[in-house]
Amino acid sequence: MLKGKKILLGISGGIAAYKCCYLVRMLVKEGADVRVVMTPSSVNFVSPVTLAALSKNKVTINMFPEGDVSNAETIDTSTWHVDLGLWADLFVIAPATANTIGKIVQGISDNFLLTAVCAAKCDIIIAPTMDDDMYKNSTTQENILKLSQKGFRIIEPTEGELASGIHGMGRMAEPEEIVTNIKKYFERSKDLKGKKILITAGPTREYIDPVRFISNGSTGKMGFQLAKAAEERGADVTLITGPVDLTSSENIKRIDVLTADEMLDAVKNNISKTDAVIMTAAVEDLKPVSMSSSKIKKEKLNGKLDLEMEMSVDILKYLGENKNGFMLVGFALETDNEIENAKKKLVSKNLDLIVSNNAKIEGAGFGSDTNIITLITKDKAEKLEKMSKYDAGNKILDKIFSINTK
Ligand code: CTP
Repeated sequence: MLKGKKILLGISGGIAAYKCCYLVRMLVKEGADVRVVMTPSSVNFVSPVTLAALSKNKVTINMFPEGDVSNAETIDTSTWHVDLGLWADLFVIAPATANTIGKIVQGISDNFLLTAVCAAKCDIIIAPTMDDDMYKNSTTQENILKLSQKGFRIIEPTEGELASGIHGMGRMAEPEEIVTNIKKYFERSKDLKGKKILITAGPTREYIDPVRFISNGSTGKMGFQLAKAAEERGADVTLITGPVDLTSSENIKRIDVLTADEMLDAVKNNISKTDAVIMTAAVEDLKPVSMSSSKIKKEKLNGKLDLEMEMSVDILKYLGENKNGFMLVGFALETDNEIENAKKKLVSKNLDLIVSNNAKIEGAGFGSDTNIITLITKDKAEKLEKMSKYDAGNKILDKIFSINTK
């Protein structure tokens, strides 16, 4: 699977560095060409000699040659840090300490590993690893978020017993999990390059007056994870989102909207040359027939407000009626007769694929980090196991583009 892949492993100074011996061994066994770079502090936790023996390559730690450099003949003018950064197909930094993460965010390059990060042209995966309090520290969290927005892929740490003896977050993912992530990376790497994908996400709002609105409980997580997966696979992604508390990568074209009408306008303005439109948005179906231009005062209401409502625009239906060379994918959030209702929407909205999920099942639907989805096409319904919304996003993309090529 990893045969011939050039993997640069960056090790920074945390106790989890000892796990890198297993990581290197596994990567080499999978056929990868592994080079190791270490920060000076990491050698306190694991021996470079062991890593050199396991990787069968020299390990780099220092920027400059040791010994007397006053004699011109001993000065090493090599650009090894740049060469290594350019050589790699993938750069994995594990463990990535709070210090190394913070320095990468600031562009600081005061050791060999950091200069290689600056020079690297390939994607970079980092596995943050530290004690619970350091991991939860707001600056650390901000830094990890910033790297994620810049396109770094994050292998989240796990919860468990830490070197300090406390139980908490910050354990480095096990080498097996890191290898799985690396394999997944190469499996799907850039396979959607050249594809233009438009994704909608989050709820929409319909205003009653300037300060009150009706909406729903969508958090936008599914759409954002789908957009992240598509962007990482090389697609040109436009993400049209209702109001959510989420951030997206700088490489994604993000358009923020409030109402269903605004979402429809944004979709129409960005649909040209699109290969697939995926409507994960929970477009609010109902809207007041008219919006009061001033705040409705309570004393004028006599204890109740009668609101006349009408249906908001059905964006997906509009797209189904005006399909023009793109794959059209809808979502169905159901509470009863999930598959049957989703299939009706597939037909009535003229979709190529509908992704159904059940709002009543734990681990699916609004707000959850996981989802349990069924992929429904005209011929088939495939129920998938519970998985992260990111993994579900990748499965949806796999499905869309497998239908497309048939
Ligand atoms: N959708 C849309 N515009 C709307 C309502 C829904 O584009 N006004 C899209 C959603 O983005 C989703 C799909 O239609 O992809 C199905 O949404 P859902 O809320 O499950 O179904 P509805 O069509 O609204 O029908 P119902 O609420 O009766 O289940």
